[in-house]
Amino acid sequence: MEGLTTLFKEENYEVKKEEKQYQEELSILHQLSPINVFISSLNFPLQIVQSDCAFMGTGEDETGTVLWGAAWHLCNWLKKDIIEGRKVIELGCGCALASLTAVHLGAEKVIATDYMDRSLDHARYHVSVNGVQDKMAVQYVDWEDEESFETLRHEFDVVLASDIIYGVHIVPALVNAIDSILSVNNELGFFAVACRDGRRGIAEFLEAMKLFGEENAFKMVDILKCSMCDVPPCFQNECNISQWDGKHTIYVFRRKRKIFENMKS
Ligand SMILES: C[S@@+](CC[C@H](N)C(=O)[O-])C[C@H]1O[C@@H](n2cnc3c(N)ncnc32)[C@H](O)[C@@H]1O
Repeated sequence: MEGLTTLFKEENYEVKKEEKQYQEELSILHQLSPINVFISSLNFPLQIVQSDCAFMGTGEDETGTVLWGAAWHLCNWLKKDIIEGRKVIELGCGCALASLTAVHLGAEKVIATDYMDRSLDHARYHVSVNGVQDKMAVQYVDWEDEESFETLRHEFDVVLASDIIYGVHIVPALVNAIDSILSVNNELGFFAVACRDGRRGIAEFLEAMKLFGEENAFKMVDILKCSMCDVPPCFQNECNISQWDGKHTIYVFRRKRKIFENMKS
């Protein structure tokens, strides 16, 4: 385990916990066998470890320790021509599958972000086990804590997210975080979020993006209904398998042209 502790230090990850705690958590991840996840646009598998269940009864948000069906759909939608050479950030990354996919599709820089330590541990472990340390970083970002994304302001051409909307109260903070982080001078930049249909907060999120967008920023440019038939079983830890009937939709937003015109004048 010494090696891994050193790895964390060498890579300059934010060390918020005691080393011993890191060692214990990483050793648990090490004991799990990585599963191979095949994404359609990659010709090799991504290696992932996940918990047996997203709800351990600790009272904390541990949803980021498993893979969600929405991540599967988002990753399979991503293509080289929309990612290559771009700066990409993932919000509420959990296991960070979309970030890993973006690295392999040729992104210039990728940052996977989340607000829970356990999600960040999984994401960091996946950086290491997939050997992408030089292309991908993992960082604490909480949409409700503006300071946590202050240094990322308008830095990213592409903002990705999957299954991060499951409550109404978070909507204003999330819209603000997206607006703050997405570049304002790249007409090809976009925000894509894969949602599980029927989750609380989605209707409010779409309405908020519409109202906010009308005034100054976003336009929805695509809505993709995803078929659920080909989602592999490893994406079904998210809940009791008998209840797993999730349909998903990917919403894609771009900055409005008005913003670019204002910038020129
Ligand atoms: C359902 S999980 C989805 C994880 C991953 N995106 C996927 O699709 O597999 C929701 C994720 O959003 C993160 N999250 C929830 N609220 C957040 C907030 N306020 N700031 C940052 N991350 C948040 C959780 O920690 C968790 O990792």
